Amino acid sequence: MTLEEIKIRTYDRRIDRHRVEDLEQRCEVGPAESSATLIVDTMGDPTCRIRHCQIYKMLVAELNNKELVGMVQGTIKIVTVHLQHQSQSIVGYILGLRVSPLHRQRGIALSLVKKMEEWFILNHVDLAYMATDKDNEASVKLFTEKLQYVKFRTPSILVNPVSHHLMRLSPSVKIVKLKIEHAERLYRRFMGSTEFFPQDIDRILKNKLSLGTWIAYWQGDSCRTFDLDQYFPTSWAMLSIWNSGQQFKLRVGKPSLACQMYARSSSFIDRFFPCFKFPFIPDMFKPFGFYFMYGLYQEGPKSGSLMQSLCKLVHNMATKCQDCKVVVTETGGYDDMLRHHIPHRKLLSCPEDLWCIKDLKSEEKHLTRTPHPRALFIDPREV
Ligand SMILES: CC(C)(COP(=O)(O)OP(=O)(O)OC[C@H]1O[C@@H](n2cnc3c(N)ncnc32)[C@H](O)[C@@H]1OP(=O)(O)O)[C@@H](O)C(=O)NCCC(=O)NCCS
Repeated sequence: MTLEEIKIRTYDRRIDRHRVEDLEQRCEVGPAESSATLIVDTMGDPTCRIRHCQIYKMLVAELNNKELVGMVQGTIKIVTVHLQHQSQSIVGYILGLRVSPLHRQRGIALSLVKKMEEWFILNHVDLAYMATDKDNEASVKLFTEKLQYVKFRTPSILVNPVSHHLMRLSPSVKIVKLKIEHAERLYRRFMGSTEFFPQDIDRILKNKLSLGTWIAYWQGDSCRTFDLDQYFPTSWAMLSIWNSGQQFKLRVGKPSLACQMYARSSSFIDRFFPCFKFPFIPDMFKPFGFYFMYGLYQEGPKSGSLMQSLCKLVHNMATKCQDCKVVVTETGGYDDMLRHHIPHRKLLSCPEDLWCIKDLKSEEKHLTRTPHPRALFIDPREV
């Protein structure tokens, strides 16, 4: 087969939807040798992972004008960066790269990504970036060896199962839900200089998938009312919730029999014998949804327990949401303090999600040379 037989074109919902969904189901994402891989169920809309961004595109690769053999998605936005002469950049994010298992290692992924980069350049994108499992050899080699991306950050994906029981919240912690405008002002003020902080944070907060923003502080802390323009408590914490399960569902593929049996028995024990404290693993072999916690911020000497309280609140909300089996968040690789306060199960989490980046405008790699990595804002639209 020569590359001339492959046509790369923009996704057309009318003719491609079912074929793209079928391809997604056939492509397991994760290291080839892994015993468990993730399969995405886009619930009838293959653009569900990009359409919440203002500018997005999906490309498909078609073989001989009939068979759909590959796809890739991209989004464009303005974010905070810390370059010598710039505090903001236009960035392009590459995601959802899939090639049919029957047509791999023939240059199809390479062509798809190059075409996406051309669209980025037309739209004045400064930096292109992507995220992958660090053990996904095919993906890492493709981007770093063939496309000159450089390894940039390794944030941790933290996953906590949603059990059948509510967690107890301390009566000495006050938790308040913020109005959207109030949350926006707080985020711009306290996280505006965080790397990759999106300029359109207001759009994220107003999105119907964003369930709200909460702050926590100690009852009786120095200020009487938590007021943005006046006093702040000495210790406080904040986070927002994104209902990813309304966007798409996940399913673990290739489960071993032992894994399935463990999940089923631990679910049974958690439900009926909670006093056994058996490590609970939810059944993730059927399609499930999840809550994603974003915009996590804490300040002050006693803010760690406040962050824990907010995480418990999220867990308790998740118990009432059908199909929500886990609560997920991602923290910048450097941020051990924050990670320490977020409840998560090691077995389900990923300690190093690899982000790779490429400067589309110059050969200079200022961003990737930053000696002390800063905090990273994880955009819930890109999960
Ligand atoms: C990753 C994936 C998209 C690659 O698609 P592909 O069309 O086979 O890739 P290409 O043929 O364009 O490969 C280009 C380069 O990538 C690297 N590569 C691709 N597959 C590889 C593999 N199995 N092992 C090692 N390197 C590989 C090589 O450097 C290759 O160049 P070479 O052929 O000169 O050695 C495909 O394996 C896939 O769909 N995997 C499942 C989904 C997934 O993991 N997506 C990535 C999420 S970010």
